[in-house]
Amino acid sequence: MSLEHLPSALTQLNVIFQAFSDLLFIVDHQGVVLDYKAGDAALLYSPLETVLGKHLEDVLPKEMAQVVSGGMQRLVVGGETLPLEYSIKLADIEYWFEVRLVPLAQANVIVIVRDITRHKNAEEKVQRQLKRLAALRTIDLAISSSHDLNLALSVVLTQVTAQLNVDAADVLLLNSQTHILEFANGIGFHTDALQRTHLSIGEGYAGMAVLKREVINVPNLKHGKTGFLNSQNFSNEGFYCYYGIPLIAKGRVLGVLEIFHRMPLAPDADWLEFMETLAGQAAIAVENAILLKELQRANFDLTLAYNTTIEGWSRALDLRDRDTEGHTQRVTNLALKLARRLGLSEDDLINIQRGAILHDIGKMAIPDSILLKPGPLADNEWHVIRQHPRYAYELLSPISYLSQALDIPHYHHEKWDGTGYPHGLKENQIPLYARLFGIIDVYDALTSNRPYRPAWPKQKAIAYIREQSGKHFDPAITLQFLEMVEADNPIK
Ligand code: C2E
Ligand code: SIN
Ligand code: SIN
Ligand code: FE
Repeated sequence: MSLEHLPSALTQLNVIFQAFSDLLFIVDHQGVVLDYKAGDAALLYSPLETVLGKHLEDVLPKEMAQVVSGGMQRLVVGGETLPLEYSIKLADIEYWFEVRLVPLAQANVIVIVRDITRHKNAEEKVQRQLKRLAALRTIDLAISSSHDLNLALSVVLTQVTAQLNVDAADVLLLNSQTHILEFANGIGFHTDALQRTHLSIGEGYAGMAVLKREVINVPNLKHGKTGFLNSQNFSNEGFYCYYGIPLIAKGRVLGVLEIFHRMPLAPDADWLEFMETLAGQAAIAVENAILLKELQRANFDLTLAYNTTIEGWSRALDLRDRDTEGHTQRVTNLALKLARRLGLSEDDLINIQRGAILHDIGKMAIPDSILLKPGPLADNEWHVIRQHPRYAYELLSPISYLSQALDIPHYHHEKWDGTGYPHGLKENQIPLYARLFGIIDVYDALTSNRPYRPAWPKQKAIAYIREQSGKHFDPAITLQFLEMVEADNPIK
């Protein structure tokens, strides 16, 4: 095809304008329409063929006409051709347009109007998605960085009201013992009507959400049936519309996220999906808090069980060896007192307490014939009795909970000069807890009746301990011990 056969420029323009939905007007400097091209004239008030010779203001919707006239004035002054954007609401739907003004000869102007509604909506959607992603990130951070459920919930609720554009929201938690829904946290309420919420499963909208495990929506609360919603307190809130979303984690219903709005809501699929995502986040926050609480509870129970167990063992021993009854309690108290005097930490005190309670647990394995013998021991009997720290080690070493406390049952018969048992450790080779406890053990043994001898007077026992400083006992700790007991038992 040769160039001569190409359609004229005007025909080309016509074709182009039929291919797009743009509107094109050629107007004079006063805005009177000289010519037009239109792919889609739906947005004109008047039939297209009647616009010729009319002023643009009479042809276009009012808001559009204003934007165009404003643009024309600026064009006349400064030659500006930048696109202008404006929106019109028709039947509740917002339309967006872009207008370009192009100057022609003789002060005429081409006005091009393009419908950019779809483009605008897509852009808004992207912006909204970005904001929602940021909201989820904020919630994630709050959940992972805080062990405080209320703090996490208030972050979730702030995002719920901001991102879903609703007036108020709260979280009700299902008490796992009473099966009652109780208010945990709320935002956007004018009254405290909801803070006293106590709903059984199946009761009210929130109770229904739990029972049915599905979202409950009440588009118009004025038609609500439940007594509570009709209460004075609640009607003061002026809520119109309601959503109750069950909070479910690992198949367990933990509570309900409630959303309230004082106007009708007409949510789209994205909104509903995001609402459920936020409810999912709230459920994670609640689940985390519950898991943490259960862990702490389990730890506490375990500790309690252990403490009860070791006290039980030691009582059994005291009962068997009647003459040492009360010995365990006394040495424990005295060992803790000396440990405080030495400035040991709270953790040390806990270990020393457990170790002291268990110090002679190994005697469980010593036969009565030896343990309760009313006189001196034969060599073979001594050999048996000297095994009691080893028996304690065998019994307790598998229990990691007692690993620090074990030094006392294991080493309380070691001596500073290395002549003790079971390992013949010397000086600082002997663990501190055991050096401390050894003094207490001997002092209490000497001042108590034994099957093999009567109790010594306190002053005699004190003199013995002083004499054994640097032989049986660590001299520095002995000094502290002597100061401690002499303060309690001044020489008369
Ligand atoms: P235990 O009666 O609780 O005595 C603990 C530690 O206190 C003894 O460790 C010892 O260092 C000191 N002690 C107790 N009584 C005396 C005493 O009369 N004189 C002196 N100098 N120190 C005393 P040890 O000696 O290693 O004894 C360990 C355990 O062996 C004792 O625990 C007790 O159950 C048993 N035992 C010791 N000596 C005799 C005894 O002569 N007859 C009998 N039946 N058992 C004994
Ligand atoms: C034992 O006394 O049987 C164990 C040795 C140790 O760990 O000190
Ligand atoms: C004993 O001598 O019978 C016990 C002490 C040890 O084995 O070290
Ligand atoms: Fe002992």
